Amino acid sequence: MRAYDIIKKKRDGGELSAEEIKYFIGGVTDGSIPDYQISALCMAIYFRGMTVRETCDLTYAVRDSGEKLDSSAIRGIRVDKHSTGGVGDKTSLVVAPIVASYGVKVAKMSGRGLGHTGGTVDKLESIEGFRTTLTDAEFVSQVNDIGLAIVGQSKQFAPADKKLYALRDVTATVDSMPLIASSIMGKKLAADDDCIVLDVKTGSGSFMKTVKESKALARLMVDIGRGAGKKMVALITNMDRPLGYAIGNSLEVIEAVETLRGRGPSDLTEVCLTLAAYMLSLAGMGTPDEAKRLARRAIEDGSALRKFMETVAAQGGDVRLIEDPSRFPKARYSHAVLSKAEGYITKVDTEAYGLASLALGAGRNTAEDRIDFSAGIILRKKTGDFVRAGGEIATLYSENAAAFASAERILLAATSLGDRPPEQEPLVYGIVE
Ligand code: URA
Repeated sequence: MRAYDIIKKKRDGGELSAEEIKYFIGGVTDGSIPDYQISALCMAIYFRGMTVRETCDLTYAVRDSGEKLDSSAIRGIRVDKHSTGGVGDKTSLVVAPIVASYGVKVAKMSGRGLGHTGGTVDKLESIEGFRTTLTDAEFVSQVNDIGLAIVGQSKQFAPADKKLYALRDVTATVDSMPLIASSIMGKKLAADDDCIVLDVKTGSGSFMKTVKESKALARLMVDIGRGAGKKMVALITNMDRPLGYAIGNSLEVIEAVETLRGRGPSDLTEVCLTLAAYMLSLAGMGTPDEAKRLARRAIEDGSALRKFMETVAAQGGDVRLIEDPSRFPKARYSHAVLSKAEGYITKVDTEAYGLASLALGAGRNTAEDRIDFSAGIILRKKTGDFVRAGGEIATLYSENAAAFASAERILLAATSLGDRPPEQEPLVYGIVE
């Protein structure tokens, strides 16, 4: 078998066999297939797609590319949540401690930023000292002791996805349904949780731009998970606007802490409560409505915030930053983006907002780029808000003041104004059970 023939077959619209997929992913994992051939196959899959059978085989090959977590060492029911990626999506930082505060185990393996979207691991690393790499033994013992640990993927865990993820990020091949489904579900199956809640984002800031595509992706992933014996639910949530007001790593951690304190933006709070409700419900803590009340209570009585602080402390992070987020290092420069005209914000291109944040240094353009943790955007106005000519739409933060001009241009071009407020869109479009 040759990588060349597999790429050519997919390029020409053929259906790859399980053996071909296994062979290729084997080569991705052991390094025998070079990056340019991996990138070429990703591009061929991007254009030609995959059948459900091929996507399942790709998922299993990703799952089997490395070690699996020995879940038997963790006591209790384990629930995870995974987002398909969005802008300002800091829900994991809020949802995981809510759920863990009820004794449900959350052994979370998260990703880094991808394309225009942020990643939980990058956000957590903006907390001074926070270790996102733990040994398996440390990970398991932390989950058993305090119910929650959040780490990045270790080298041994679904290593094929790690390689694919990094290459897709820089070769414009992220937004492909089979590549997203196999990436997410390959990791989820290797982590071997009992229950999984998927947050499938839809709209201009997500990889799936329409509700129809998002539902199809949700269905595909739920079916893959069910086939592997997992309890699954997928929520389709709105990403036609950033979630909350903060975009960028430490800015998002600060907003997540505010949300855990009960002072978060209403859209972020509502999506977090809904996700937590389904996680608790799958874990046997009542109907989604009952579980949502529990989720709300965990914020009101401070137990979710305490669980987050316990987790930060256990992973070496500076808890003083969480107690007092004003201690987070600030970007050296800031810049106010002012509206050129007056009107209601009728729609925004959320992906462009993510790209503006990336231009400020909050994400990566190449796999090797270093992140500026304090860089990003605080929105002052969101879709539906009225803005006057000269009024502030957003504040930009960066260590690189030269980046402001292009970020401002992107942001202004991505913000549409009109005479009337737009119709309100739902935050949650549907649930695939
Ligand atoms: N999240 C993942 O883990 N993989 C993707 O491909 C997209 C989002």
